[in-house]
Amino acid sequence: MSTPDRVAWLQNPATKCSPVHSHNGTPWRVVLLGAPGVGKGTQAELLHQRLGACHLSTGDVFRAAATRKDCVPSPAMAAALQYMRRGELVPDSTVWEMVRERAGCLRCGGGFLLDGFPRTLSQAQSLNDFLQQENLALNAVIDYELPIPEIVSRLSGRRTCSKCKAVFHVANQPPEHDGICDHCGSALIQREDDRPESIKVRLAAYEQSTAPLIAFYRNLGLLLSIPATGSPEQICARSLVALNLQAEFPPCP
Ligand code: AP5
Repeated sequence: MSTPDRVAWLQNPATKCSPVHSHNGTPWRVVLLGAPGVGKGTQAELLHQRLGACHLSTGDVFRAAATRKDCVPSPAMAAALQYMRRGELVPDSTVWEMVRERAGCLRCGGGFLLDGFPRTLSQAQSLNDFLQQENLALNAVIDYELPIPEIVSRLSGRRTCSKCKAVFHVANQPPEHDGICDHCGSALIQREDDRPESIKVRLAAYEQSTAPLIAFYRNLGLLLSIPATGSPEQICARSLVALNLQAEFPPCP
């Protein structure tokens, strides 16, 4: 399945994206939870290939805004970027404002894979209220679990393409040529918030603000907890089993 351009999510909510095809005509609406670096973005890409739903990451929206030279960010977006540089959570009202501007992506007939949103109880409540008003329902909330030392190693070795945003790891998923993206040939960079001092702040913020979402979604009967150890394909196969899709997507031999 081709990668959608996600222009409405990443750049301009008024722009039309290239068409997205849902799995068997059924839109999948899934939230991915888990600590920074657990592999949510990696899984979102693999699940997108199976389910068709777009990978919608709020972190990607903030980073896209930070690197765009052709427009001045709104005051809220500018403030959000400052928080992000320090590895802190952006205030809920700012985040919800930004997601609401992109409500078309939540209504999209192709479904969605939300990554990095919601991140607090207040954000989860805003999303719930919105989906209820729109008569839309989440299929599941997947919580990826991984021990802290492995999380730190995944984050400190991550390298991201400066252009197409593809994700690599210096040891686990190295590019073919050192420092160069396999897909578009651009330079790979280390994210500012993947430096050791930011990683600590991000993990603490996760424990405080995001971990309570697990109980919230468990109470709604939506939570699926998945161990995030092993290869990305193994974790994706576990996710598909949890979603009851193993018959349609048997693991590769
Ligand atoms: P965001 O971009 O959402 O960052 P995050 O949640 O911290 O998650 P990451 O993108 O760091 O990790 P990931 O779980 O996607 O892991 P990945 O697949 O890349 O947010 C960044 C910042 O934006 C936040 O800190 C905050 O300031 C702000 N923000 C965003 N949303 C917000 C919100 N809603 N409210 C407030 N603030 C918000 O994998 C990591 C590495 O591991 C990669 O190198 C990968 O190759 C490797 N890897 C992946 N899977 C495996 C595997 N199975 N085995 C070995 N290596 C693997």
